Amino acid sequence: MTRDLMFQSEIRNVVRSTYGRLPGGAGRAMAERLYSEEQLAGLPDDAIDWSLGVGNPVAHAALRPGERIVDLGCGGGIDSILAAREVGPTGTVTGVDTLTEMCERTRQAAGTAGVAEWCDAVQGELEDLPLPDDSADAVVSNGVVNLSPRKSRALAEAARVLRGGGRLCIADFVVNDDLPPEVLTSSAAWAGCIAGALSEEVLVKKLMKAGFTEIELGERIPFGIDDVAVYPLFDDAVIQLMKRVVPEPEQRRIATSVIAKAVRAG
Ligand SMILES: C[S@@+](CC[C@H](N)C(=O)[O-])C[C@H]1O[C@@H](n2cnc3c(N)ncnc32)[C@H](O)[C@@H]1O
Repeated sequence: MTRDLMFQSEIRNVVRSTYGRLPGGAGRAMAERLYSEEQLAGLPDDAIDWSLGVGNPVAHAALRPGERIVDLGCGGGIDSILAAREVGPTGTVTGVDTLTEMCERTRQAAGTAGVAEWCDAVQGELEDLPLPDDSADAVVSNGVVNLSPRKSRALAEAARVLRGGGRLCIADFVVNDDLPPEVLTSSAAWAGCIAGALSEEVLVKKLMKAGFTEIELGERIPFGIDDVAVYPLFDDAVIQLMKRVVPEPEQRRIATSVIAKAVRAG
């Protein structure tokens, strides 16, 4: 068994180094599964090729023209650009990512998509957002909160930057039962949003504690081991490990992608 990923700094380093050396995202195949044809039309190829999310939060966020949006863990920028299209030039989109190279990808893709004037990206951590209090109407995120070793803190930061009545809409994996220890301690499985996944119950509790109300979980998409194998985060060794230690029936649903919506109280 690999060493337990018990230290927050260790998890942070694994996530940063894994995403820092990725050759590309899950590509068009996964994007076509998650996004509508209409959304994908006209998006820069790079934004689609770097798509690494697990759902389609912008489709559920009911963004309106003129709103101020934050995209937590913007990566290659696909959701930031989709959000920028919804809010238009009277609104703003701020992507936040721990990696400067991801911020640069989002900026470049926003330029190609013609939304750079109101869509930018800043380097920062989910757990310490470089943004003022009450400065956003909506926060979206896709496959990122699970990567944080301090999810309560990350959700509290999302609540802090939202104005009272502002909306949160995130896509992430949830799991029913504890995964086998070999998977929980695999750094690739953590970087792939699986080892750090919460149960639905714990996610709802953390959202409530962070100051959110009107919490709704919806659009559940099952992901089997063969589905997650599409992401470049999982090499053959970790796929084989999961096939060996996860019981056969659960291999077709190792995690479920869920859309979590909530409103910042106050
Ligand atoms: C699975 S990718 C998702 C990217 C993008 N949301 C998408 O749907 O394509 C996770 C992204 O979150 C960033 N990230 C991971 N942990 C983070 C943290 N603690 N703070 C800020 N960004 C983080 C990574 O650098 C990476 O770009």
